[in-house]
Amino acid sequence: MKVLIVGSGAREHAIVRALMRDENVTGIECAPGNAGIAGDVTTLPLDVTDTQAIAALALERGVDLVVIGPEAPLVAGAADAIRAAGIACFGPSAQAARLEGSKAFAKEVMAEAGVPTAMALVCTDGDQIDGALDTFTRPGTPYVVKDDGLAGGKGVVVTDDRAVAVAHARACLAGGSAVVMEEFLDGPEVSLFAITDGTCVVPLQPAQDFKRAHDDDAGPNTGGMGAYSPLPWAPADVVDDVTARVLQPMIDAMAARGTPFVGLLYAGLAMTSRGIRVVEFNARFGDPETQVVLARLQSGLGGLMMAAATGHLETHPAPVWSSDAAVTVVIAAQGYPESPRTGDVIAGLGDAAASAGVDILHAGTRVQDDGSIAASGGRVLSVTAVGDTLHQARERAYTAVDLIILEGSHHRRDIALAAATQE
Ligand code: AMP
Ligand code: GLY
Repeated sequence: MKVLIVGSGAREHAIVRALMRDENVTGIECAPGNAGIAGDVTTLPLDVTDTQAIAALALERGVDLVVIGPEAPLVAGAADAIRAAGIACFGPSAQAARLEGSKAFAKEVMAEAGVPTAMALVCTDGDQIDGALDTFTRPGTPYVVKDDGLAGGKGVVVTDDRAVAVAHARACLAGGSAVVMEEFLDGPEVSLFAITDGTCVVPLQPAQDFKRAHDDDAGPNTGGMGAYSPLPWAPADVVDDVTARVLQPMIDAMAARGTPFVGLLYAGLAMTSRGIRVVEFNARFGDPETQVVLARLQSGLGGLMMAAATGHLETHPAPVWSSDAAVTVVIAAQGYPESPRTGDVIAGLGDAAASAGVDILHAGTRVQDDGSIAASGGRVLSVTAVGDTLHQARERAYTAVDLIILEGSHHRRDIALAAATQE
């Protein structure tokens, strides 16, 4: 099987590495990729926002399966274009990707499917903002204000400051989007991914993401600064419970609407004092959670994705997981997330990659004319390690992180710390 992966982050690098371990996959190409991916497989230039260009590239390369990493091409209809060209695609149609592309739509389907989530109000007019904020005002809990549409991780503001909440709501409306106000959900977050062919749901292993920029959950929300799996503190039945109460009902509701969801459904969950609530859905693998989830996958990823893309998941063998723990730490460029500085050369990658149990997954990197590797984006590297325990995986990951030199870069020191301490 020959596979084309679309995207350029550490998530796509993790998918490439997992496919490299699958003996049924005979060819892997990635477009556009990054410096690290180019060290592993053939990379090809591509504008990922151009859905026709993606389909044309898949045809030209003669691949059997296309895997779409990021949300923007999915929401724009890349999977539809690829399927129209007669090629199997792991990724939802534009209609189904609305579960990520519109928070208001996701709320509508959750209501239909009886899936537990935060109470919410959708505002389409500035006059509605104050009333909606009043509805969710509770002493001691912040306001939650969300851009309805895709915002590259910057759409959600959680704040105690009413003026900041109002300003974000107005900015969302001014940007042409509706705005969603929600009740605040307390409790730890869990990310659970499921692979689905539109009917059958195969959950993967749960992970936890660290969304804030700095230690102790300080600083602004980011795309994700680190992750770990498994979750020693989570109830033993969390995967079965979320599959039965969240993932399967959503997949059933999408099928009943005539817009089946094929690919990866990402449930972002809060384990609140009142039970599990959905925080968000994404229509693709999460980044950086994918780095730790796939580090623990022992069976082939290619066959699983192809079975989902072609509607044969029911008869496909279940994934096999290692009992190892995995931790990933994101090294971000100076100024990330507000205004990342690019162009700085990265040193120490070879030594870091040679450390025990470590995989250096690249995100925003590119090869310069002199052969050196430089930062080209906000999240630069995802240093991933496996170990017998979270404690060991953490030690290994941070040993490798400390070998990497990127001027001005920052990373969190507390990824998986609380969970490893409890272990
Ligand atoms: P989202 O893009 O919807 O995942 O939101 C990004 C982050 O904002 C989530 O991972 C949470 O940490 C936080 N968040 C979103 N919605 C809520 C909510 N209703 N209550 C508390 N935190 C939230
Ligand atoms: N890690 C959060 C996301 O992928 O959206």
